[in-house]
Amino acid sequence: MYSLRIFLLIAAQLTFTATARAQWPYEVPFVPSPQVVVDEMLRLAEVNAQDFVIDLGSGDGRILITAARKFGARGLGVDLDEHLVMQSEAAAQDAGVAQRVQFLRQDLFKTDLSRASVITLYLLPGVNMRLRPVLLGLKPGTRIVAHDFELGDWKPDAKVTIRKNVMLWVVPAKIEGRWRLQVPLPAGTQTWDLDLRQKHQEIDGVVRAAGRPPGGVWQPSLRGDRLRFVLVDNTDREQEANLYFEGVVRGGVMEGEFRRGVGNVQTRHAWRAERIQP
Ligand SMILES: C[S@@+](CC[C@H](N)C(=O)[O-])C[C@H]1O[C@@H](n2cnc3c(N)ncnc32)[C@H](O)[C@@H]1O
Repeated sequence: MYSLRIFLLIAAQLTFTATARAQWPYEVPFVPSPQVVVDEMLRLAEVNAQDFVIDLGSGDGRILITAARKFGARGLGVDLDEHLVMQSEAAAQDAGVAQRVQFLRQDLFKTDLSRASVITLYLLPGVNMRLRPVLLGLKPGTRIVAHDFELGDWKPDAKVTIRKNVMLWVVPAKIEGRWRLQVPLPAGTQTWDLDLRQKHQEIDGVVRAAGRPPGGVWQPSLRGDRLRFVLVDNTDREQEANLYFEGVVRGGVMEGEFRRGVGNVQTRHAWRAERIQP
């Protein structure tokens, strides 16, 4: 089966002659994703009727048409090839989803992505890398799903291989910096500082409390704007307990609930932190 990987191998053998340029006028040629790969991309991204999907380089429109037909989503496809745009519009009519999807002859690099809750890609590695800063700047929680090629050292949040590689990334909130955390504990409300470091969705950090050595921020995870981590409450040596934090990050504020301890002595409490240093 023809694929972009085979195109890459052939392109590497060619000097980019006038003939090659005529055959591949855009930086990525049209190679459609097989239907089972399209299905898997949309399943992995958990596309649903509330989603607005943007397919960058939409080819014959199959990703958006499937998103509308099988998952009830709406969306936009952009492609530089006007014949493919016309073919996509006709296919959307035939599938009865023309009211839910739109196709435009437009450069993907000039497309406003802010409306998207899901972005789909089947492009080449260099194009993905040029898009990456734009993707990382999108609203936290935006899902990006790609057929075949990765986004450099931004690790996927999920990867499935069924004939082809399909990868999902969730745009992470920006959480790096120092946060002041108010924690209601049996010994009284404590003020702790959390120093968090971040590489995309991978995070780590330390917690600082006055008069004590820094402690660990254990099991940290960030998916979109949802954060989880565990701190150890050792304010009273006789009654140490793990504190299981879950919360949402909105700009300079994080808030949510933590559970103190386990089993039938577990208690639940609200928490809040404010960013005090970038
Ligand atoms: C590999 S195909 C993918 C088609 C479709 N997304 C799929 O997965 O079946 C890539 C498409 O990107 C389009 N394309 C290439 N460069 C583009 C650009 N700068 N802006 C918009 N479309 C572009 C090509 O015309 C081609 O249809």
